[in-house]
Amino acid sequence: MNPVAMITGAARNTGLAIARRFARDGYDVCLTSRSEESAAAAAEAVAREYPGVRTLGLAMEQSDLAQVEAAFRRVRDAFGRLNVFIANAAELAVGFSIYNTTPEVWDRVMNTNVRGTFFCCQAAYPLMSEGGSILLISSVHANQSIVGRVAYSASKAALGGMMRSLALELANRDIRVNAIVAGAIWTDRWAAQTPEQTAQRRLKYPAGRESTPEEIASAAAFLASLDNGTITGTELTVDSGISICLLPYEKEWNRHA
Ligand SMILES: NC(=O)c1ccc[n+]([C@@H]2O[C@H](COP(=O)([O-])OP(=O)(O)OC[C@H]3O[C@@H](n4cnc5c(N)ncnc54)[C@H](OP(=O)(O)O)[C@@H]3O)[C@@H](O)[C@H]2O)c1
Repeated sequence: MNPVAMITGAARNTGLAIARRFARDGYDVCLTSRSEESAAAAAEAVAREYPGVRTLGLAMEQSDLAQVEAAFRRVRDAFGRLNVFIANAAELAVGFSIYNTTPEVWDRVMNTNVRGTFFCCQAAYPLMSEGGSILLISSVHANQSIVGRVAYSASKAALGGMMRSLALELANRDIRVNAIVAGAIWTDRWAAQTPEQTAQRRLKYPAGRESTPEEIASAAAFLASLDNGTITGTELTVDSGISICLLPYEKEWNRHA
């Protein structure tokens, strides 16, 4: 019997790459999206690529707790258990600063990224009777910021405290809880940039480029692996080196190297 992984917001970009990686590693995978069609299409695509695994695509709006409960009920009915839960779905809320963040925007971000993530974890752990692993996808915005991401940054900062509390509270059930603190990841939003804009952005990263979704998926596979039975309450930073810079990175710093 294959182990079972559930990944939220997995119809595209990072979430889809994580789902494909876990399928490649022999997990049955459940993927969610707010759109039933997108979830089903992604689940079918992963099943076609990895015929040895079962996949399930579910519609779930994470800020709606009735939908969260319904989705986890469907996972229990389909698979009977869960070994890995990855909270990837998030409202990115780009362009909302103190000057234009309305109560509605604030609530949408917090209800999805914080409240929704927490209640997903609360629904996930009872399905992990054999122990398991929960992974929260956080962001460098938890610790550093740019103008126009105040609600998003606050929501990702909250994930650190949530992750450490859950790691403590679920340790006696052999459930490990960790977070990936991601820097820039290539997603379909990058495709809208000109090659010049992309090149310009890449100059800012010490590693010279953003992470691929597959690199985030690889970090997720590492953290979830049963080989790492004592890694819990930890943040793994995967950010091309951006958060170690005191000043904006300059390639010329290394001209004497
Ligand atoms: N891209 C980056 O540079 C970057 C950097 C650091 C951290 N991250 C984090 O990485 C994770 C994946 O982000 P991504 O860049 O791959 O972006 P993305 O494609 O926008 O992924 C987020 C997914 O979350 C789902 N989602 C959004 N709002 C939702 C809601 N209210 N309820 C349920 N699902 C919702 C969306 O799926 P549907 O539209 O299919 O419903 C979306 O595909 C996020 O946690 C993000 O904060 C990304």
